[in-house]
Amino acid sequence: MKLLIDDAHMDLIRHLYEFYPVDGVTTNPSILAKSKRNPYEVLKEIRAWIGADAQLHVQAVSREAAGMEEEAHRIVKELGENTYVKIPALPEGFKAMKTLCKEGIFISATAVYTPMQAFLAGKCGASYAAPYINRIDNLGYDGVQVAKKIHDMFRNNGLKTEVLAASFKNSRQLLELCEYGVGAATVAPEIMEGLVKNQTVTAAVEDFIRDFESLTGTGINMSSCEMTIE
Ligand code: G3P
Repeated sequence: MKLLIDDAHMDLIRHLYEFYPVDGVTTNPSILAKSKRNPYEVLKEIRAWIGADAQLHVQAVSREAAGMEEEAHRIVKELGENTYVKIPALPEGFKAMKTLCKEGIFISATAVYTPMQAFLAGKCGASYAAPYINRIDNLGYDGVQVAKKIHDMFRNNGLKTEVLAASFKNSRQLLELCEYGVGAATVAPEIMEGLVKNQTVTAAVEDFIRDFESLTGTGINMSSCEMTIE
């Protein structure tokens, strides 16, 4: 499962890239609005940091297919090859997806709440379909189950499209989809850190360090340790 960051804050992206195996960054119009900066300035900064090979997902905001297509061309022109254009899985979006996929532009179908939307996006040739886990839960359904159904549906129909699960409210939902083997998930920084922040693990490692230092002295480790000890 590819792991992406759903944020446009450079400090957070740098931090997560430094510590974790991250495959790229996803943004949406609301995330970009939070930066209060020119969207292309922010996105170019992200692209420069993550490199040309990493995935960057950027959403089109037009309501009609023709506008989405124009946006897609500009987005890819400005941000390079591994840029996925997020197109909402609505009728106008499917129309745009069909054209753009034929042109070889990578599409990430977004605002997916139902397997049927994902199926149509897959048939249009989208690389990803992004079910919104938490938002589906808030409608009274089970977002994780919907994502699993979509994953199975793609496989059972011979579609190459992958699930890009989005909108998580906790790390457990992410873990469940990771166990299931969906193609990708994009998560807010706090969800990613929630996967590994664990007092019991920290305490266990601290015990090892304390025991070692009781043998060799404070601050001494395996690189600074003398060949004989007092
Ligand atoms: O980018 C789409 C998705 O990640 C939205 O997440 O947390 O706003 O429901 P959220």
